[in-house]
Amino acid sequence: MADGRLIDRCGRPIRSLRVSVTDRCNLRCRYCMPAEGVPLAPKSSLLDFEGITRAVRVAASLGVTRIRVTGGEPLLRRDLPELLAMLAREPGVTDLSLTTNAVLLERHVEALRDSGVRRLNVSLDSLRPDRFEQMTRMAALEDAWRGIRAASAAGFDPIKINSVVLAGFNDDELDEWVELTREANVVVRFLELMPIGEGAEARRLGGYCDLTQRREELVKRFALEAVPGPGGNGPAVYLRAPGAAGLIGFITPLSNPYCDRCTRFRLTSTGGVRPCLAQDLEISIADAVRAGDDAAIAAGFREAAALKADGHAWRAGGVTETSMSTLGG
Ligand code: 5AD
Ligand code: SF4
Repeated sequence: MADGRLIDRCGRPIRSLRVSVTDRCNLRCRYCMPAEGVPLAPKSSLLDFEGITRAVRVAASLGVTRIRVTGGEPLLRRDLPELLAMLAREPGVTDLSLTTNAVLLERHVEALRDSGVRRLNVSLDSLRPDRFEQMTRMAALEDAWRGIRAASAAGFDPIKINSVVLAGFNDDELDEWVELTREANVVVRFLELMPIGEGAEARRLGGYCDLTQRREELVKRFALEAVPGPGGNGPAVYLRAPGAAGLIGFITPLSNPYCDRCTRFRLTSTGGVRPCLAQDLEISIADAVRAGDDAAIAAGFREAAALKADGHAWRAGGVTETSMSTLGG
């Protein structure tokens, strides 16, 4: 197997890999997909579970320890818990987590827990049913909450809820989210809208919201205290309301970029290695995976590392064309 750590051209070690298992989704979030969806990859072009596991094993041999399975909506991939169990058995994988919109979560909770996943990220942008529907084009907020409650009861910990904050749309809900963390053991993270795919157009619904500024306001109003992150050292900054059960996090790619600390790669469902969200650049390892050629897979990862951008140009007006559901949200 390949050896030698994966280090990018700026000296950043690659430690985490987001693995997309499908580009399909049961929602149509306005900043991610148009109502009619985006062109989908034919199912025959998806990596199979053995292939995904092989790619992950090679990545692990190069220093990747953290795997997050995502989509589109990963629960739409048939037999997903089987894949998760395969990944959980990989000795190099010390942290395995799943990102979902939670709409289908309730019925899968037991199987997911049995597969070995312990950490869940849920994408959920509004506490209000009408806004949830306006954002996702689906009246499914109650389904998502049922999924979250079931996951919490089944022992998933931490459960992180990711909310993309849009000025003039849902930025009046931040106080309610903070209040919710007083009683509920959840980590609510606010994300800045990134100009990716439909996100570049999402100003129809509401504009970009500077969350570094909003964080400073919330810190004062709620006397929030800085706390270390709940496992992992991703890009978020975490805070807690005094005595609260849960945490608040901020992910601020535009107002306070963290590119210099980025140690992440993405693998698309069709076997494309994506070194950076801001780059429309993909190195395919699909053929290498299908051939079972670990050296060629490692070479693909290395090529992507050599090309990883040192930062994004989003503040200067740059956009990413590929939709988030395709590149692995
Ligand atoms: N900007 C910020 N976040 C986005 N997501 C999808 N598209 C964008 C965007 N343009 C989020 C989803 C989910 C996570 C996987 O990525 O809402 O929380
Ligand atoms: Fe689906 Fe996530 Fe895109 Fe929403 S943001 S349409 S939940 S992939």
